[in-house]
Amino acid sequence: MHFMTPTLWAGLSLLTASVLGAATFENPVIWQDYPDLDVFRIGDVFYYSSSTFAFSPGAPVLKSYDLVNWAPVSHSVPRLNFGPKYDLNNATSRAYVQGIWASTLQYQESTDTFYWMGCIADGPTYVWTASGTNAAANNGEVEHWNWTSQGSLPRCYYDNGLLIDDDDTMYMAYGKTTINVAQLNANGTAEVKTEAVYTSPDEVYIEGSRMYKINGTYYIWVTKPADDEYVLKSDNIWGPYERQVLVDSIEGPLSNAGNAHQGGIVSIKDGQWYYVAFLDAYPGGRIPVVAPLTWTEDGWPQVVRVNNEWGKTYPIPVHMNKTVPVTTGVDSFQGPLLSHEWEWNHNPDDSAWSLDGGLHLRTATVTEDLFTARNTLTRRIPGPKSAGTFKIDVSGLKDGDRTGAVLFRDIAAYIGVYKSGNTSSLVMVDELNLGTNWVTNSTGTVAATGPTLAANTTNVWLRIEADITPAFSGTTAVRVTTFWYSTDGHSFTQLGEPFSMTNTWQFFTGYRFGVFNFATQALGGKVTVKSFDLEML
Ligand SMILES: *[C@@H]1O[C@H](CO)[C@@H](O)[C@H](O)[C@H]1NC(C)=O
Ligand SMILES: *[C@@H]1O[C@H](CO)[C@@H](O)[C@H](O)[C@H]1NC(C)=O
Ligand SMILES: *[C@@H]1O[C@H](CO)[C@@H](O)[C@H](O)[C@H]1NC(C)=O
Ligand SMILES: *[C@@H]1O[C@H](CO)[C@@H](O)[C@H](O)[C@H]1NC(C)=O
Ligand SMILES: *[C@@H]1O[C@H](CO)[C@@H](O)[C@H](O)[C@H]1NC(C)=O
Ligand SMILES: *[C@@H]1O[C@H](CO)[C@@H](O)[C@H](O)[C@H]1NC(C)=O
Ligand SMILES: *[C@@H]1O[C@H](CO)[C@@H](O)[C@H](O)[C@H]1NC(C)=O
Ligand SMILES: *[C@@H]1O[C@H](CO)[C@@H](O)[C@H](O)[C@H]1NC(C)=O
Repeated sequence: MHFMTPTLWAGLSLLTASVLGAATFENPVIWQDYPDLDVFRIGDVFYYSSSTFAFSPGAPVLKSYDLVNWAPVSHSVPRLNFGPKYDLNNATSRAYVQGIWASTLQYQESTDTFYWMGCIADGPTYVWTASGTNAAANNGEVEHWNWTSQGSLPRCYYDNGLLIDDDDTMYMAYGKTTINVAQLNANGTAEVKTEAVYTSPDEVYIEGSRMYKINGTYYIWVTKPADDEYVLKSDNIWGPYERQVLVDSIEGPLSNAGNAHQGGIVSIKDGQWYYVAFLDAYPGGRIPVVAPLTWTEDGWPQVVRVNNEWGKTYPIPVHMNKTVPVTTGVDSFQGPLLSHEWEWNHNPDDSAWSLDGGLHLRTATVTEDLFTARNTLTRRIPGPKSAGTFKIDVSGLKDGDRTGAVLFRDIAAYIGVYKSGNTSSLVMVDELNLGTNWVTNSTGTVAATGPTLAANTTNVWLRIEADITPAFSGTTAVRVTTFWYSTDGHSFTQLGEPFSMTNTWQFFTGYRFGVFNFATQALGGKVTVKSFDLEML
């Protein structure tokens, strides 16, 4: 067993000429909560998969041409098919902090099939595929995504990384502390065999496997959460594997954030490899950073460092005249589908929403508890600071209905409209608290009341200004969010005091923007979300 302190890499001279002298990019590459990534390339296109817990659809697929600019283009799991609690239709059986965590996405060229696989709870491992994409034939471009459930494999492949070998055999690295490799059948629907291939000699907890074959050598990348990344290497898939430490509490590139650790690697067309890792950046969640890799003569990877840290900037990996759409701006919900920025809190009740000149949300649940209400639609907050403004037609509210814009997490707050009798009033509610075991501890307290809306009011604008600059470690700073309303779309008034966000990691998912509409008396009311405007501040 070798233990190696990562060495300061002497310079950028081994980087290829096409990269040298190029413009630089800044880390983080996506300042949004996209943890547990798996990354790979087909032709010109890089793909990135991430975990989403109980948000639905799950396991977003992001696309990039340069490893720097990314946009979500699909979800591998269109609906969480993991059991009734993922539907949020039972106040005492919910799936908070369960669902999709470290899972895997890879592409099999011979069958033109994307494979997503993820262990849910203690198992089984669910399999979804998308075939008929023409990705390999089309330089990486997917014509259409055709995600289909292939059922499940009975074993829990915990924190799994799929490798499709040169001869098309599928292998999966998985496990914690002891890392195993399973060989699957030709279409990934059954296990052929599995073996333990590596155990931490010192019982150091490791997980988050990603598996690669590079120049005939097998690599399994694992993390010691949430600070280190180790590389296991062997000439034989079944081992024995040797280990080296790739990063050990590496500093940079963000202040008051965690260390870049768990992630995956991908090469560009000229053979240069990049490591895409994530770091804890609460209250915003876990966000990805990119660094180039070099390789020692005996085949060990090393992160290219800047002043012995993870660089804030590096040369842009790929220069490309194609780019992905920007993800800020106005979404006016013209449909026919929601953009892949959006994810519901648990599976939605599809009979209670539609897209047709706006997002129509008919109340789906009678409850006092936002954490139990179905059809709250969320999206990640871009950092370091951004504002999300929902324009909502509230004319269809019924007595007892509550609609609004929520800063969604286990400790949450919102600005909304309460309808009582024939009167609609603006409120700011804080102290919503999901509690330590994710059993609602507090449904919130009205912290401020705004004006009563005129009886003929149609639209209100509800705005959340969020600062998710990391305040996770090395600081006592607390980040705050403010809530605003407008009845004309131009003049906004703050309601309530700034809300202090929690920076704990236990809920895993970072704060999100969300919009909700639920009933406390009876179903039958509705709102129309006419637009969402996302601005960087
Ligand atoms: C809700 O979940 C609880 C706990 O799992 C279960 O006992 C109960 O039967 C469920 N209720 C309904 C209506 O499904
Ligand atoms: C979609 O996937 C299914 C199952 O893999 C496959 O049978 C079908 O041919 C695919 N459809 C298209 C249009 O590729
Ligand atoms: C996968 O392969 C097995 C045999 O290896 C076959 O029985 C099964 O039908 C195949 N499943 C799919 C979805 O193609
Ligand atoms: C793989 O082999 C090629 C050809 O010998 C070499 O150029 C490349 O640097 C090697 N890659 C790695 C990661 O070792
Ligand atoms: C983009 O680059 C490719 C290859 O470099 C080239 O074939 C194509 O014409 C370019 N497209 C545009 C719109 O410049
Ligand atoms: C609400 O308005 C309707 C129609 O204007 C009226 O009939 C009803 O009495 C009002 N209800 C209350 C509680 O004011
Ligand atoms: C429950 O909520 C109260 C009021 O918000 C808070 O003081 C308390 O710490 C919470 N308890 C837990 C376990 O989250
Ligand atoms: C709403 O009613 C008020 C009087 O109560 C009137 O001044 C205003 O113009 C009306 N607004 C609309 C949009 O009809």
